[in-house]
Parts: sequence; structure tokens; C-alpha cells
Amino acid sequence: MTAPVAVVLAAGKGTRMRSAQPKVLHQAAGRPLLAWVLDAARAAGCGQTLVIVGHGQTAVQAAFAGRQDVRWVVQEEQRGTGHALAQAAPFFEHERRILVLSGDVPLVSARTLGQLLAASRESWGAMAVAELDQPGRLGRVLQAPDASLARIVEHADANRAERAVRRVNAGLYALRAPAIFADLAGIDTDNAQGELYLTDALGRAVAAGRRIALVPLADPAEALGVNDRCDLARVHRVLLDRVVDRLMSEGVTVLEPARTSIEPQVEVGADSVIHPGVSLLGATVIGAGCQIHQGAWIRDSVIADGAVIKPYSVLDGARVGVRAAVGPLARLRPGAHLGAAAAVGNFVEVKNATLGAGAKAGHLAYLGDAEVGAHANIGAGVVTCNFDGSAKHRTVIGEHAFIGSDTMLVAPVVVGADALTGAGSVITHDVPEGALGIGRSRQKDIPDWHARQALASKKVRGGKEKG
Ligand code: UD1
Ligand code: CA
Repeated sequence: MTAPVAVVLAAGKGTRMRSAQPKVLHQAAGRPLLAWVLDAARAAGCGQTLVIVGHGQTAVQAAFAGRQDVRWVVQEEQRGTGHALAQAAPFFEHERRILVLSGDVPLVSARTLGQLLAASRESWGAMAVAELDQPGRLGRVLQAPDASLARIVEHADANRAERAVRRVNAGLYALRAPAIFADLAGIDTDNAQGELYLTDALGRAVAAGRRIALVPLADPAEALGVNDRCDLARVHRVLLDRVVDRLMSEGVTVLEPARTSIEPQVEVGADSVIHPGVSLLGATVIGAGCQIHQGAWIRDSVIADGAVIKPYSVLDGARVGVRAAVGPLARLRPGAHLGAAAAVGNFVEVKNATLGAGAKAGHLAYLGDAEVGAHANIGAGVVTCNFDGSAKHRTVIGEHAFIGSDTMLVAPVVVGADALTGAGSVITHDVPEGALGIGRSRQKDIPDWHARQALASKKVRGGKEKG
């Protein structure tokens, strides 16, 4: 048996999005709508997928440049879904079953596509339907006496009785080539939207005696299409809820699912607790028994078991060791690596820097392009001055070193193990192991300053009165 082929309709304008961006590039759960559809097709075993593009075609093709399984077909003018599918005709001269999908129906599962293919083996074709409490503007599906398709009425063309039908067309079909292209050749634009409807071609197939089975969606959410921003928000939420449900079933506590954004690739270990307002994005992996507190924003980061991320911390491309603590209000940028039980507190920024086990930077510091040894202590206000205006340089701090508050470490510079720096120092050359490095002007006290100032100002005022 040859692998099924999918055709995805993705050329439409998506006018109701009111966007400069093509509709299928809008993101749900961190990925473009079209990516979800393409993945479902691939998971259903489609070796190749033809994507019909038109509106914003350059941007769409660029966004999927890496996909080997996609072949682009251009629909120069967007004259409706029937016209869109007709563009694929030259690829299907021989008998072939094709899955026709909508680029704006992203919740479709591979399982549903498998069901459609199976149903289309027994009938001539098959299409997915769902009974929705709020069928909105989706096409209404009218049944024949044998429960197969009679015809589809678009919302814009439907009368009151037809609009009352809750069975909708999900825009997912298994059809046969080349017959469907003959049906498409017979449709016209005599409808409320003046478009060439794919749904009319299905009506013609049925009128010609070909049976199209109706496959009810196991999860009616799969029928949700994205035509406007409200639909987009709904679909986004469904995708995120699926992730939260999976994590909860794996033993993760999510205190307020509706106030939590966890993207599909994310993994979280058992007994971790996710507080409200947390975003876990991209390829983030969180270990077991972690606490991720309110408002933490974490992308592409790896957090080991038992770590605590305190409120409103931002982690991007960071690695956090076991039982380490971050925040509140800390920022870990790409290449920030915290060892076991290391701690980074409020208003500390770490970039391309490693903190060894048990190292601490409690407050107000910048550690960039640095290596901080185990158990070193970084005082408040410490800055690694890593940039000289043209190049970046490294700072190396040894184990158990103590960097006094407000020390400026002018890189490249090395502070040896067990060394100290005096508060307020500007360290411009290496501090040997165990030494105290101080680089600041000595304090000078001017006696009676206050009284002298007072006297001086009196004189000035007195002088003015006289003159
Ligand atoms: C379509 C169906 C409707 C169904 C719904 C499911 C038709 C006539 N109606 O309506 O019965 O309930 O999908 O979501 O098919 N497209 C093109 N070229 C075009 C026009 C559209 O490629 O010229 C693409 C769009 O980019 C989109 C898909 O086809 O991805 C569906 O088009 P859209 O205009 O959104 O159709 P709906 O009105 O939602
Ligand atoms: Ca649509």
C-alpha cells in the first residue's frame, strides 16, 4: 500500500484575523497553526504533503524552509477552498486517496486522519464532523437517511433551520483523486460569499452516487478552526490544557491550570509544583520535586531535581543544578549554569557564566562570561566588566573566594581560590590565591566639615545683605 498523501489548504487571506501576518503563521502554544497540521499529517504516515499557499506565500514558505516532506503549490488568486484544492490536480492524475486538511484547523490528531482513511476505504470518501454546542460560523452538515453526507451548507448561505443544526464540518476529509477534481471542475460561485466552495464539490460527488461517510470526532475540540483572534485564543488554550492534563497525570501539581502556560515539548518531574502565572516554554525540562513559583518565565532551560525558582524570575537557555535556588526576580540568560545548591537572588543577572556548587550571588549583581568556583560568595552590586568596547573577556573566580560588595572585576581577570576583594574595589589585575585585593582610594576624613560649611554659607548670605 502506498503511503497516503495530504493536501493542506493554507492560501486564504484570513481577513477576520485583521493581521499583516498570514493566518497560518499565527502561533498557538508556541508554534504556527500550520505546523500543527503538518505534524498531524506526518504522524498519520503521509510521506508527502502538498501545501496550497497564496496569501503571504513567501513568509509561509520561509517559516517552513526546513521541512523536507512539504511541497508547495501556489494558488495565485484566492477564490475559495474548492479553487484551492483544484490547484493540486496536476499532482493526482492516477487513482489515489488524499487527505485534505485545512491549515487553520490545528487540533487535528493523527488518529482522526487514520479514521478518515479507514472510513474512505469502505465508502468513496469520508469527512470529520462534530456536534458543537456553539457551532458558530462553521459549515453545517446535513445527513442522508443512511447517516452519510447529504450536503454541506455554509453558515453564510444557511437558513434558520439549517443554522440550528449543530453538526459541523471540521474541514478534514479523505477523498479520491482524480474523481474529486472532476467534481471541482463543476462548481460555481453562486453563493453568499461568491467563492468556489470545496463543500459544493462534495455535494456533487454525493449527487453522482458516491458515498461520503461522516466520521464523528472523538474530541469535538478537533473541529475548532481559527478564523479570528477569539478562535486563536480558544485553540491555544486547548493545546495548553492538553499539556497540563498530561503533566498532572504524571504526578505534577499545577495549582491553577487556567493561569499556567506550558508548551507541549516541556517535561516536568513528579512532585514538582507549578504555581499560578508560570510560563514553561520551548524545550524546558524540569526535574522532580521542584517548586516553580508565581510568575516565573522559563524557556529552553534545564532545571534539576529539588530546585526552587522563586517568583518573577526569568530563565532563558539556563541550567540549574539540584536544590539550587533562583530569585525572586533573578535573570538567567543563555549559558547560565548553576551548580548544585548554588543560589542567585534578586536583581542578579547571569549570562554565559558558571556558578559552582554552593556558590552564592544574593543581590544586585552582573555575572557575564565568568566562572565562579564552588562556594564562592559574590557580594551585592558586584559586576564583571566583561566588555571593553570591542571584545568580551572572561572573569575567573576561585573556590571559596569572597568578592566584596560593589567590586568591579575588570576582565580578563582571575581571583584565586580563598581570595577576597575589598568592598568597592576596582580589580584590574589578578588577585593571588588567598590574598586580599583592594583597589580603591583611601578614605579621608575632613574634621568639622558640617560646622565649616554652615559658617561659609552664613558669610555669603551676610555679604549679600550688606551689598
Ligand atoms: C471552511 C468550510 C466549512 C468548514 C470550515 C472548517 C468551505 C467552503 N467551508 O470554512 O464548511 O466548517 O472550513 O474550519 O470549504 N483557503 C485557501 N484558498 C482559498 C480559500 C481558503 O487555501 O481561496 C484555505 C484557508 O487558508 C484555510 C482553509 O482553506 O486554511 C479554509 O478556508 P476558510 O476561508 O477559513 O473557510 P471557512 O469559512 O472556515
Ligand atoms: Ca476556517
